[in-house]
Amino acid sequence: MQTVETISALRALVARARSEQKKVALVPTMGNLHDGHIALIHCARQRADFVVASIFVNPLQFGANEDLANYPRTPDADREKLVNAGCDVLFAPAVEQIYPDGMLNQAIVNVPQVSEGLCGSARPGHFDGMATVVIKLLNIVQPDVAVFGEKDYQQLAVVRSMVKGLNMLTDIVGAPTIRAADGLALSSRNGYLSEQQRRIAPVLYASLKEMAASIRELHRVDESLLQACRQRMIDAGVNVDYFEIRNAQDLAPAREGAAHLVLLVAARIGTTRLIDNLTVDLR
Ligand code: PAF
Repeated sequence: MQTVETISALRALVARARSEQKKVALVPTMGNLHDGHIALIHCARQRADFVVASIFVNPLQFGANEDLANYPRTPDADREKLVNAGCDVLFAPAVEQIYPDGMLNQAIVNVPQVSEGLCGSARPGHFDGMATVVIKLLNIVQPDVAVFGEKDYQQLAVVRSMVKGLNMLTDIVGAPTIRAADGLALSSRNGYLSEQQRRIAPVLYASLKEMAASIRELHRVDESLLQACRQRMIDAGVNVDYFEIRNAQDLAPAREGAAHLVLLVAARIGTTRLIDNLTVDLR
């Protein structure tokens, strides 16, 4: 695996792969790689001959009071994991490479509707910053396929909407969430949890599963169970930001009779904000 830090070096490698008729995949990440990221690389490998992973902790998608400075950075371990996963190129640019004119002078991509509400309310500007760096990475690599984790469900919906709305050609693929044995979705932010907080964290997935089972059985949302699930998380010591049921495609509020739903949760345990989701297909 080659590691490159500049856009020009990366473009040269991708151009060579293209001249060999290789299909190119991109897996954008912020590093601190875990098995969830490695599953994205495997997914990309299945769909392409040349896999580029990027590691860039994007300052533009962090709010002023968020964890940018403390975001875990583990470059050596990440490199080794990518080599073992069969990644071809690691693109690890510095901030100046991505924002040479500074972030204030950067053209920003705003994706309306899907980026509003849910995490969009709790993290103002987050999805603009995320969409902006993703479009830059897609324009730099021009991959046939780009793979994103379904754990960040709203992020994936924003990327899909951006790619469709801006007539981009990359095929956006969502890869299933990887979970710990007790159900907790793998996330770089799990590392912030104390032992005791880690023990309560699986209540998020347990609540999603219970609610999903009820919707499957009743074909409707049992509001009192929804409230009971929220209460169970609160009782466990979790600060629930949202626990909601939306239309799986566009994240609009779920309408009566809708067949494809997604349950989404975001919650803080101490200062750590975790998200998770579960789709329910009633067709
Ligand atoms: O999901 C992430 O790690 C980031 O939001 C992404 C897609 C790499 C953009 O910075």
